[in-house]
Amino acid sequence: MPTIAVTAATSHLGRLVVEALLERGVAAGSMVATTRDAAKAADLAAVGVDVRVADYADPATLDTALAGVDRVLLVSSDAVGDRAEGHLNVIAAAERAGVQLLAYTSVLKADATAMLLAADHQATERRLAESPVPTVLLRNGWYTENYTAQLEVALEHGLVGSAGDGRVAVASRRDYAEAAAVVLSGDGHEGAVYELAGDEALTMSELAALISEATGRDVAYQDVPVETFAGILAGAGLPEPLNAVIADSSAGIGRGELVSDSGDLSRLIGRPTTPAAETIRDAAQLVA
Ligand SMILES: NC(=O)c1ccc[n+]([C@@H]2O[C@H](COP(=O)([O-])OP(=O)(O)OC[C@H]3O[C@@H](n4cnc5c(N)ncnc54)[C@H](OP(=O)(O)O)[C@@H]3O)[C@@H](O)[C@H]2O)c1
Repeated sequence: MPTIAVTAATSHLGRLVVEALLERGVAAGSMVATTRDAAKAADLAAVGVDVRVADYADPATLDTALAGVDRVLLVSSDAVGDRAEGHLNVIAAAERAGVQLLAYTSVLKADATAMLLAADHQATERRLAESPVPTVLLRNGWYTENYTAQLEVALEHGLVGSAGDGRVAVASRRDYAEAAAVVLSGDGHEGAVYELAGDEALTMSELAALISEATGRDVAYQDVPVETFAGILAGAGLPEPLNAVIADSSAGIGRGELVSDSGDLSRLIGRPTTPAAETIRDAAQLVA
């Protein structure tokens, strides 16, 4: 059985990928979970996953983390605008380690999108294209959880964005994690580029209506110019350039950049993607 490493395994997505691999029958002992903070992965170590400390900014830690590993999932970091170099360090370490398969969590339509968010992903994809290591691009669309992570804020202020009537093809994080686990534990994915998105594409007003339905509270969508939205996010404490990048992504939804009819996600996971209504209902129960 190949040894599979999941980087940033203590991220929300990384944890779900490790869980999905275990559910698919991959032995904990055949798995490496990398994290910057081993204490955060104590639960993974407790079930027998080999936890190794690695920082994308520190190549020596990456060499230790990827020693003896056959397949790697590189989970993109959350340092938006400043993460390409770290990703390139992971790719170089995977090459030095003789990895046989390197999958990367990119963004939907990375090669065509004008969204600012995609710049780091595009730089990473360009480097992957030059690598001798067989690669898989998991071009992830939006998580439904992007709209539930701060449900209290939506309940108080409504949904705000710059997407107009644009649609976003959301799926649950778990859906994307399962797709990654299918690729890492399966065969024949080398060279694949998967455009991963939910089966349903919703407008912001439709998402607001689902939140209203799940919470019993009246939540409306307010559309504002992209500069105004960036300002609102800055006022809420989001630093530069993150507030501008998130506002720009909302405008990207308006331009149709976060929808796809590829069907890749449901095909990989072998079932329809999780309806947004279900993810929103689950989140609503936690704030009830
Ligand atoms: N598709 C979407 O809708 C969407 C939404 C949000 C984010 N994303 C992207 O998908 C990734 C996974 O999503 P998520 O929600 O699971 O993110 P998350 O929970 O915010 O986790 C971000 C991860 O990045 C790791 N990280 C940051 N800098 C690092 C470094 N220098 N070296 C190693 N690890 C580093 C963090 O490591 P520690 O655990 O050590 O702090 C953390 O585990 C995100 O990082 C982001 O690139 C996608």
